[in-house]
Amino acid sequence: MLNFALFGAGRIGKMHARNLASHPKAKLRWVYDINPEASQAVGQETEAQIAQDVETILSDAQVNAVLIATSTDTHADLIVQSAKAGKAILCEKPIDLSIERVDWCRDQLQSYSVPIQIGFNRRFDPSHRKVAQAAQSGEIGELEQVIISSRDPSPPPKEYYLVAGGMLRDMTIHDFDLARFVLNEEVTKVTALAGTLFDPVAQEIDELDSAMILMQTARGKLCHINNSRHATYGYDQRLEAHGSQGMIRSENQQATTVERFNANETYRRDPLPEFFIERYTQAYLDQIDSFIEAVESGNPPSVTYEDGRRALILANAAYQSLESGKTITVSYA
Ligand SMILES: NC(=O)c1ccc[n+]([C@@H]2O[C@H](COP(=O)([O-])OP(=O)(O)OC[C@H]3O[C@@H](n4cnc5c(N)ncnc54)[C@H](O)[C@@H]3O)[C@@H](O)[C@H]2O)c1
Repeated sequence: MLNFALFGAGRIGKMHARNLASHPKAKLRWVYDINPEASQAVGQETEAQIAQDVETILSDAQVNAVLIATSTDTHADLIVQSAKAGKAILCEKPIDLSIERVDWCRDQLQSYSVPIQIGFNRRFDPSHRKVAQAAQSGEIGELEQVIISSRDPSPPPKEYYLVAGGMLRDMTIHDFDLARFVLNEEVTKVTALAGTLFDPVAQEIDELDSAMILMQTARGKLCHINNSRHATYGYDQRLEAHGSQGMIRSENQQATTVERFNANETYRRDPLPEFFIERYTQAYLDQIDSFIEAVESGNPPSVTYEDGRRALILANAAYQSLESGKTITVSYA
């Protein structure tokens, strides 16, 4: 049994709180949010105590692990503080928006030997995982191409855009990580094209709403990511791997497999999931299972700090490509 504390009780923090509170191997002991209403809501729904500050949590010897689900700009400091206190860390993506901050945090972590896992939950989606396994096991022969489609149902509000840190570091970062997971080789070249095609709010603040990215590994394997901040038909999440002996893909998921046919509508299935919390329910649960297993066994977590760092390096390369109009050769140094 691991005693957890949750930092951040917003959109994703509330979901993590529920998952931790109902997990057979976890106890949610504390919650802390700078917004007291947010922590109270979690306190009322779970048995978590409401902390008034970070120190109360980190000085509690009963706390084994922290889950960091605060706004992105607070992650690096909370990681370092938690590591100093000897707590195992599960931190939401991205680690930070600045590679300098990510490297500063990595250097600080050298002095502490706590397990740290980054919240790239899509690696734990059972269907995406099967695609990655098939790509690596030889089931589809030699892997040649990976295609990732990720479209949000609708654009976020202006306040979100202003703090999220740009589409490629906030949204596409999941896909950069998924690409690395399926390719199982480092990406060496990145070419990006992007634009603002439909969202007036994005236009007003000079933000992107659509992107297509091409990447290649040193051995020549290719990956295409396509992202949009809207899709009229719901949250669109698909992954495909093509190899010398076949193709495997993880399709969109619907609540049921019911198909309807009639004279007016020739064919209809259930709508797509509303958004990430509905689509990746199992992945968020399996992510916590994997973290607990790593902490209890002493094995390294399956999604490492370096994975978080490299996904950000790919996002930075994509921005560089957009600015220069060139293909960028990636350095992970
Ligand atoms: N893995 C995923 O699928 C996924 C999905 C959404 C968000 N995220 C990530 O999770 C993080 C939170 O996103 P969100 O959508 O829940 O945002 P949010 O704004 O809804 O919630 C963030 C919460 O953190 C609190 N907070 C801010 N600074 C704090 C501090 N110093 N100490 C304690 N609490 C603090 C805020 O009051 C707020 O309640 C972001 O880093 C985001 O990128 C990941």
